[in-house]
Amino acid sequence: MLDVDDYLRLLPKTELHCHLVSTMTAGMLVAQAEKHGVPLRTTDPARLFDYRDLQDFLVAFEAAHQVLRTPEELAQVAYDGVRIAAEDGALRYREYFVNPQSFAEVGLGYRPLMEGVIEGLSRAQADFGIGFGIVVAIRKDVTPAQAVELVRLVGDTPLPEVVGIGADYLTAEGTEDPARFADAYRLAKRLGLKTTIHAGETPNASPDDVRAALDVLGVDRIDHGYRVVDDPQLLARVVDEQIPFDCTPISTTICSGWRLDPQHRIARMIEAGVNVNISTDDALFFRTDLGREYREGLVALGVDAPTARRLALNGIDAAFCSDDEKAALRARFAGELLTLDAMLA
Ligand code: ADE
Ligand code: ZN
Repeated sequence: MLDVDDYLRLLPKTELHCHLVSTMTAGMLVAQAEKHGVPLRTTDPARLFDYRDLQDFLVAFEAAHQVLRTPEELAQVAYDGVRIAAEDGALRYREYFVNPQSFAEVGLGYRPLMEGVIEGLSRAQADFGIGFGIVVAIRKDVTPAQAVELVRLVGDTPLPEVVGIGADYLTAEGTEDPARFADAYRLAKRLGLKTTIHAGETPNASPDDVRAALDVLGVDRIDHGYRVVDDPQLLARVVDEQIPFDCTPISTTICSGWRLDPQHRIARMIEAGVNVNISTDDALFFRTDLGREYREGLVALGVDAPTARRLALNGIDAAFCSDDEKAALRARFAGELLTLDAMLA
């Protein structure tokens, strides 16, 4: 027999919202910073991953890019990140945000960056059986023209592992402003790439940010999107259209300043019937892992085991991989769930 905690630990999972650099361990971050002479705010592992808020986190997130300079270093982070996730969260498939514009600042170009990441993730796939896709993320503090330039670069460098375009960080003014990247997203769609964007996450965001992501950019998925519950009409629409939302419970305690309880916006989204799937956002950098998101995050939100099971399966439907890969994932999950469901006390 399994108790709920073990059931949630063993539940097979996908993760669609995971920033690659944030899968780096504290040890590697500190060693790499020393190697490349990058100053960190602290090298004390007990305090390295403390942040006041999202803006403060983004400074540390940006610094983490500066410590990775070669394809080999990227491959190492990518490989180790999968190894750790395989142990912690019964992970079966993961999509990664990679920010080429942050790596370009330290002279690492798009192709060597991606080749390093793909090499590490492919090796990990062979060793741990965890599939992957890569979503190239636009930094929201670049100009709209720079965003278009990045999407053009993605189009000019065909790599089957690169499946989509996203956008993270905040604008220079500290806003989310999805509409700013209308041209970049239009081009992404023309190139046949899937699309998603961070929207409706921050304390000063509004449902309009989610609406703009849907109406101006026409995204396939939304990252975070929690402000949708502040607008009943929009909430009803996203339920009706079953728009996938990539939600990250533990990160909201840091980036949005919210407590994990049954009144939390993610709990209200799930209750309302929104198509939610669950991720870590910034796994090690937020001291979390996918197992913890389910066993502590969802439990604190008041989500029961059958609902958690449904959210895990939602992640397959919302993934940017091929229909064949989805069918293989569904078959794998079905096999594992048959045993797990029978053992749930
Ligand atoms: N980059 C990494 N994590 C992020 C988050 N939660 N919000 C915006 N940008 C991010
Ligand atoms: Zn994110």
